[in-house]
Amino acid sequence: MADTGIRTDNPPPDLPPDFKDDPSIDPYPHYERLRGRCPVAQLDQVCGMRPFVVTTYPEARAALADPRLSKDPEVGRQALVEAGFEHLYFGERASLSHHMLSADPPDHTRLRKVVAAQFTPRRVAELAPRVQQIADELIDDFAGAGHAPTEQDERIAQTGQAELMAAFANQLPSLVIAELLGVPADDRQRFRAWSQDFLRPTYDPRQAEAAEALTDYLAAQIERKRAQPGADLLSDLLSSEDQERLDPQEVLSTAVLLLLAGHETTVNLIGNGLLALLTHPDQYAALCGRPELVPDAVEEFLRYDGPVERATLRFAAEKLEIAGTVIPEGSAVYVALNSANRDHAVYPEPDRLDVTRTPRGHLAFGHGIHFCLGAPLARLEGRIAFETLLRRLPELRLAVPVEQLEYRASTIMRGLEALPVRFTVRKSPVHAND
Ligand code: HEM
Repeated sequence: MADTGIRTDNPPPDLPPDFKDDPSIDPYPHYERLRGRCPVAQLDQVCGMRPFVVTTYPEARAALADPRLSKDPEVGRQALVEAGFEHLYFGERASLSHHMLSADPPDHTRLRKVVAAQFTPRRVAELAPRVQQIADELIDDFAGAGHAPTEQDERIAQTGQAELMAAFANQLPSLVIAELLGVPADDRQRFRAWSQDFLRPTYDPRQAEAAEALTDYLAAQIERKRAQPGADLLSDLLSSEDQERLDPQEVLSTAVLLLLAGHETTVNLIGNGLLALLTHPDQYAALCGRPELVPDAVEEFLRYDGPVERATLRFAAEKLEIAGTVIPEGSAVYVALNSANRDHAVYPEPDRLDVTRTPRGHLAFGHGIHFCLGAPLARLEGRIAFETLLRRLPELRLAVPVEQLEYRASTIMRGLEALPVRFTVRKSPVHAND
């Protein structure tokens, strides 16, 4: 136990020390115990650190907006170096350290403003037809393109089988973010692999390799845009560089951030949301019967089993106390978003999926100045993904027992390795405007 003056039940003795490092452990029962007994616990060992974890909703929300909890890696240098994160945050190739999610004001304000100009509701809404087209094409690829309907076709319902993470969830967000950034969509398999590896725990050597490969790749793309600007986000960021609002390192870091933040998160929204539906047949039937509920259902998927289990690391810029736990200066702090979103003090029957719930105020996109900049885009992609899957692949069901599904090892994310499903092929794609 650290010499911090922390409570004696901190953490509860029966808590597995590695319940985030080990993807086979269901975190929700452990979060429930922490919320009840120790809302701000110091965990024994997470990726080489002894971070504090905030699990209750009011404390989590307040912590996300607390300026004493800094995003500046310098504030947490000692904890980061001890945990082996040095290569990510410090030194020449520290591709993670010069973007808005690793900055406090005033730098954060400046870095965010430049990108925020790209995420206007109008610009996001303009992407809708393209996102719909991508969703339909992906389904065509694994379920057949369909053709003009005939009465006979309607009668010949065929069943199909697919691994939906590989065939759909992994693909849609990477195609969209590639298009937005202006990087070749054909490279998506590569940056898909890098972004997955990048989010692995630091003790996995693939993590550092991926960081390097991703940085090199984006640096080359930036040089390409510098020579030949296009109508895309990277080119716009480079023109900000000309105006001296972003320096070259900041442009590169911001590109890495966008590729990562815009990718794995939305992949897991689709995967976790689908799994939630497939394991709750009543909710699945309700949504098929009332597709107008999909936007609310997406919010419920985010609350019920969000893609970002814990917000990115924060560091105590000074000694502080949350819910009776003293957090010494320099400590690493995780805010457990998925735990806060299951706090019964805020959401009645929090462990129940209810697509009609309208879960206002969930923390899946964070809160405060770092609230997800891409939330409108993520919501658009989520809505189109679920509307299209439910419309075109009726009678979706799991193809393996739920106990066989595996989660990916990650320091902060929650997402499936694979999601094998069976479905009925509707021979003709029915589009929203038909
Ligand atoms: C379902 C999908 C998504 C989820 C659940 C999600 C979640 C989050 C969360 C929790 C944060 C705050 C992290 C923290 O405070 O430590 C965040 C920040 C951010 N997200 Fe997302 N995100 C999603 C999709 C996207 C997309 C599609 C983009 C852009 C293409 C994006 C870009 C960003 C950026 C740039 C930040 C940093 C904001 C800042 O520091 O001011 N995200 N996201």
